[in-house]
Amino acid sequence: MDRLVLRQPDDFHVHLRQGSASADWARDAQKAGFARVLVMPNTVPPVVDSASLMRYRHSLAAAAPGLGLLMTFKIMAGMTTETLTALKAAGAVAGKLYPEGVTTNSADGVRHLKDAYPVFEVMQELDLVLCLHGEDPGAFTFDREVVFLKDFRALRQAFPRLRIILEHISTREGLETVREAGERTAGTLTAHHLLYTFDDLAGGALRPHLFCKPLLKRSEDRAALQAAAVAGEKQFFFGSDSAPHAKSNKEAALCSAGCYTMPVSLPLLASFFEERGALEKLDPFLSVFGAEFYGLPRNPGQLVLERRPWVVPLEYHGAVPPNAGETLDWQLQEV
Ligand code: DOR
Ligand code: ZN
Repeated sequence: MDRLVLRQPDDFHVHLRQGSASADWARDAQKAGFARVLVMPNTVPPVVDSASLMRYRHSLAAAAPGLGLLMTFKIMAGMTTETLTALKAAGAVAGKLYPEGVTTNSADGVRHLKDAYPVFEVMQELDLVLCLHGEDPGAFTFDREVVFLKDFRALRQAFPRLRIILEHISTREGLETVREAGERTAGTLTAHHLLYTFDDLAGGALRPHLFCKPLLKRSEDRAALQAAAVAGEKQFFFGSDSAPHAKSNKEAALCSAGCYTMPVSLPLLASFFEERGALEKLDPFLSVFGAEFYGLPRNPGQLVLERRPWVVPLEYHGAVPPNAGETLDWQLQEV
């Protein structure tokens, strides 16, 4: 088989940044084949109210007409019901919780999860989805996700009607916790956590373009993530956590966290599902489970992937994808 016809997919976790560069990242999402993207709010300044959300969506829509923009806001402790209601009215579909200091642009994040409980209460009433960066900043870096899961379980119990997503799951325990938490709970999986381990990042020469938060983990964790994706478990769907940084900020003494994977996600995932004999599970992972969880219709359009080797560009607008210069088997048919 040399041609794969897929429903146009969604990417339920992207960073499109701010300012003039965001036009490039938004257009890349379209070129990469995505119909809709869930846009993360950790811009500078962050998206924290209806005015900033509408401004941001407007600038992205102008840059990439036709791209479905699912907007989020950054959860701040002390956000009022009024602010949250206005965000919902402005079209926000989800709020994103960043624990303080765990990743790029999160110094203004929430210190203790409990500090944001009053916000979660209102989000539950408004039926806004809660997206979690699930890492405890007080724990050792490698253990941050697993340590966070205790708070996650308490949160799950405290807000039974809230839809909660554990973003970019990186551990076996993270998957297990989401499974046990039941159907109002889901997790996103990135291409990089599915394909790489900490050894790829730092087992030999350091590869800064694989440095992200949460860190890539052990091969046992990766195997668990891979099994969840190819089994077609509906609680787990694709969110690339595509996070472009300038090459000069990645190949640096202080390397920024984030992998720019959006342009290569579909070819990588096609090869990955094919190698495991699970190509029929690719469409639900990319285009069905996430839409269902968010209560969105499936995308009507289609795209075609062709088996035609191509070499991943060394840069996209100054950001280097983790597998720059490598040859991939599948590529998107130009329309
Ligand atoms: O590696 C990451 N980069 N993880 C995140 O959670 C945020 C992202 C970014 O914004 O660069
Ligand atoms: Zn992210």
